[in-house]
Amino acid sequence: VDRPRPLVAGNWKMNGVKSSAKVLTEIHAGYTPGLKAKVELAVCPPATLVSLLSYASVGSRVAIGAQDCHAKESGAFTGDLSAEMLADAGATYVIVGHSERRQYHKERDVEVCAKAVAAHRAGLTAIVCVGETREERESGKTLSVVRKQLRGSIPVDSNSRNLVVAYEPVWAIGTGLTPTVADVAEVHALIRDELRRLVGKADAPKVRILYGGSVKPSNAAELMAVENVNGALVGGASLVAADFLAIAGAY
Ligand code: G3P
Repeated sequence: VDRPRPLVAGNWKMNGVKSSAKVLTEIHAGYTPGLKAKVELAVCPPATLVSLLSYASVGSRVAIGAQDCHAKESGAFTGDLSAEMLADAGATYVIVGHSERRQYHKERDVEVCAKAVAAHRAGLTAIVCVGETREERESGKTLSVVRKQLRGSIPVDSNSRNLVVAYEPVWAIGTGLTPTVADVAEVHALIRDELRRLVGKADAPKVRILYGGSVKPSNAAELMAVENVNGALVGGASLVAADFLAIAGAY
């Protein structure tokens, strides 16, 4: 089976101003030929920085992504940004369905799916996020919750080039807590299995499934070694170039 090329993506969330471009410059400097051969990198800054960082990244092979998009291409949607606009600004990835969007903006699977469809329409790769809350884990619902989110959030036109799945247990985000490697393996195996239904048997093994939630240089090697973990979606640690590079170097 072709193992997918790992992807380490940084989600800057609502952090970063123009001077934060220096973090990207430092990432470029540390993205050595050896590292390039092993792992793909993406940085997802706030939308205000997508254009600036895309220009700064030309020729570097560090991809730029956005953190959300609207489902429509254009129109009367004050404050929103379409996938086409983000592509025009230089993004090649967009995160959709992050738990912070699901929680604070009440996004449900149906909206997440529409956003992923929009991403594909604009030629972007959608990073579709799923993950259970602490309550759901404690009541033994993790697998059924993740299965339902996958079936509801992944568009039918998905394939291994336009889709990345990120498993982010909500209780592990920004808390310093991580699931055991056995728990990560269990959920990622379920995701791989569901992908066979969603993108077909031939493409399913090639889809990158990222783990996200308190990934740090100190735990990256252990997490990245888990079967069916094809990279990481990194929050806090992606704001420091040395930490982000150390996580990428865990491969
Ligand atoms: O999207 C990545 C994120 O939710 C994980 O955040 O800070 O726990 O790495 P953090």
